[in-house]
Amino acid sequence: MARFICPRHGRHTPGFILATRKPSSNVQSFYRFSADERLKHVQSFSGLTEEEVETLRSGNLGFDRAQRMVENVVGLFPIPIGVATNFLINGRDYLVPMAIEEASVVAAASHAAKLARGTGGFMTESTEPIMIGQVQIVGCPDPSSAEREITHDRRELLEFANKQDPLLVSKGGGAKDIRVRVLPSLVGTMVVAELLVDCRDAMGANTVNTMAEAIAPLLAKKSGGNARLRIISNLADKRLARARAVFSKEALGGEEVVDGIVQAYAFAAADPYRCATHNKGVMNGVTAVCLSTGNDTRAIEAGAHAYCSRNGQYSPLTVWKKTGKGDLEGSIEIPIAAGTVGGITSVHPIAKVCLKILGVKSARELGEVMAAVGLAQNLAALRALAAEGIQRGHMSLHARNIATMAGAEGDEVDNIAELMVKDHIVRLDRAKELLQDYRSKG
Ligand code: MEV
Repeated sequence: MARFICPRHGRHTPGFILATRKPSSNVQSFYRFSADERLKHVQSFSGLTEEEVETLRSGNLGFDRAQRMVENVVGLFPIPIGVATNFLINGRDYLVPMAIEEASVVAAASHAAKLARGTGGFMTESTEPIMIGQVQIVGCPDPSSAEREITHDRRELLEFANKQDPLLVSKGGGAKDIRVRVLPSLVGTMVVAELLVDCRDAMGANTVNTMAEAIAPLLAKKSGGNARLRIISNLADKRLARARAVFSKEALGGEEVVDGIVQAYAFAAADPYRCATHNKGVMNGVTAVCLSTGNDTRAIEAGAHAYCSRNGQYSPLTVWKKTGKGDLEGSIEIPIAAGTVGGITSVHPIAKVCLKILGVKSARELGEVMAAVGLAQNLAALRALAAEGIQRGHMSLHARNIATMAGAEGDEVDNIAELMVKDHIVRLDRAKELLQDYRSKG
């Protein structure tokens, strides 16, 4: 096998398809490769060691490690990792590991990314990685004067907060500001002090919670009230990732498809029932990358949906417009509270390999990739819905699942699935009938 120096890591790895040229994520018919070929390609692209390849293949978490992660462990729940191809983001190629149980998502992301390549791929940006830690103070005799006191003593409070994590401060992060809100509530007026913490490459929940707990007694003293909740906010609206891409009308299948996608977007912008599904499609991509990299999927989901409601009406995460030339321009802005260090990202062996496949250098870069994948995922769904409908693409893998549920094994799975798709009847009872028939014919 040819030897190949991985340009990302400068190491020799067994060369495969990319042995003689700069690795590209633009791979023809990746889905047609065998699993071994796919793994070899990913290995070459990302400079994975044999051990890392084996970790990926085996899904090896280990019972002992699992027992250290959560309580009352009785088993493991494996989820497939697919690699989305074709992603060109800010001029750089990415192979994107996606952990997801739903058929078609990885293929759809890869296809949308391929369409975007023709017009330069995705352009992304992000804000500083600022998370918000809230301290709830109740029973303040004078909420307005409490607000003034806390604001006045801001420096002292920030200094104390920063003593909790000197390492983060040494890396340029740490508590940067405090803001105070006087909040009318069901149980009377409360004061909410909010620490704004630059978490650098960590998701930051531990640090932010530690800082919030540390300053709470000081806040109580200064306000004359009682500090109650001290916890991070998952509405990470100061930690935003943005992505943008243009899709040519030719690549999409004509101006009518462009119009259909803009109309689909308008539907989501006007109606929360459609909007929830629109955003679910976006999150298919975002959450799959989040999970593969060991990040907290619930935090990102909560943040994304809360962000969509910030103006009082639940709105789409993406925006789609027709350009002057009749092409389609899409953009996304989404809070991404994800890290590349700390927490499970640094402990889970598969998350570590997935981060290496992505090759991201920072949490911000990871967030931007997630935003691009979310935008791609949404484009693929809207295009399918506006043109042919979603079911055709979904059906064959769904049919295989149904065939398996009916008891099909080995070659039977593909044969039964094919028959069901051909007849447009993909149901468990039909699968059982076909299987019985198939076996009786021997
Ligand atoms: C299915 O997982 C996601 C879609 O429903 C998203 C959408 O309707 O936009 C296809």
